[in-house]
Amino acid sequence: MAFYEVYSHPVLVRYRSSVCTKATLFLVVVLCLTYIAPLLVAYRSQGFWIKRNIYEEQPVVRFQYQTLLVAATSLQGDYVAWSTFPHLNNMLGSNLRIPAVSVREEDQNQDGKLDLLTFQLQLPLKADEQVYSVQLLLTFSYQLFRMSTVVMQSLAFVQHSSPVPGAKLFISGDLRLQQRTPLPHWGLYNIYNVSVIDGSSPFASAYDLTNVMRSYQERNLTTVLSSPTPVWTVGRAAGSPFELYAEIRYPLEIIRYPFNKNSEGIESVF
Ligand SMILES: *[C@@H]1O[C@H](CO)[C@@H](O)[C@H](O)[C@H]1NC(C)=O
Ligand SMILES: *[C@@H]1O[C@H](CO)[C@@H](O)[C@H](O)[C@H]1NC(C)=O
Repeated sequence: MAFYEVYSHPVLVRYRSSVCTKATLFLVVVLCLTYIAPLLVAYRSQGFWIKRNIYEEQPVVRFQYQTLLVAATSLQGDYVAWSTFPHLNNMLGSNLRIPAVSVREEDQNQDGKLDLLTFQLQLPLKADEQVYSVQLLLTFSYQLFRMSTVVMQSLAFVQHSSPVPGAKLFISGDLRLQQRTPLPHWGLYNIYNVSVIDGSSPFASAYDLTNVMRSYQERNLTTVLSSPTPVWTVGRAAGSPFELYAEIRYPLEIIRYPFNKNSEGIESVF
């Protein structure tokens, strides 16, 4: 039996729905997953192929009020010294000279972290004494929190000498972080949370600056005072003390850390 077409017309069927339906929601979610999730993974893993990375952080630094000062008072090897370590002061005997010290730490930008240490010292001298050189060691507690929690004790060492006896030494510098190896990027790093000088030791070798600096420089993480321009002023009036004035800033640091995909990154997104 054969059919033949009598008449034909196209049919338009409209399906209406409001915009807020489960289907729209589903579509939006799928779109989001398509574009946002990979971005998130890329962002959280801090780049897929990077082996080393850096970040900026202002450290939390506190002066620990430990000080060691040695001043040469002649060219023949006479010296006077002072420290905050009672054992050392006892050993110094007649070379001990107590200076007047004033210390101030400031938070200049009100961000809760100290930015500047001002250290002033006046060393009384006998009539026949002159100052030819100064060695000053200060200790700090130094902390970082942004990636790994780094807690350490570190130092700043100042040394200046001149063939002409001085009246005053002015130092202005930054306490900079020195990393020999990248820092871990998570966890607690406190292997250097040990005293730079063992103040409980009754032995002179514990306070010998050569020994102190040697073992300090063996560390992979240290601070160093970068003070390019110490100013040595000559012409001390008879009977007046030798003055030392130091400004030490605690600047923002750039910290290197290794990138390790297994310990953070992709898994921690979800
Ligand atoms: C670091 O050492 C100080 C004193 O030596 C101690 O009070 C502090 O708890 C230590 N901090 C860490 C995180 O090890
Ligand atoms: C210091 O870094 C070296 C590699 O440069 C490493 O072999 C050594 O174990 C590190 N020392 C400490 C105490 O982490």
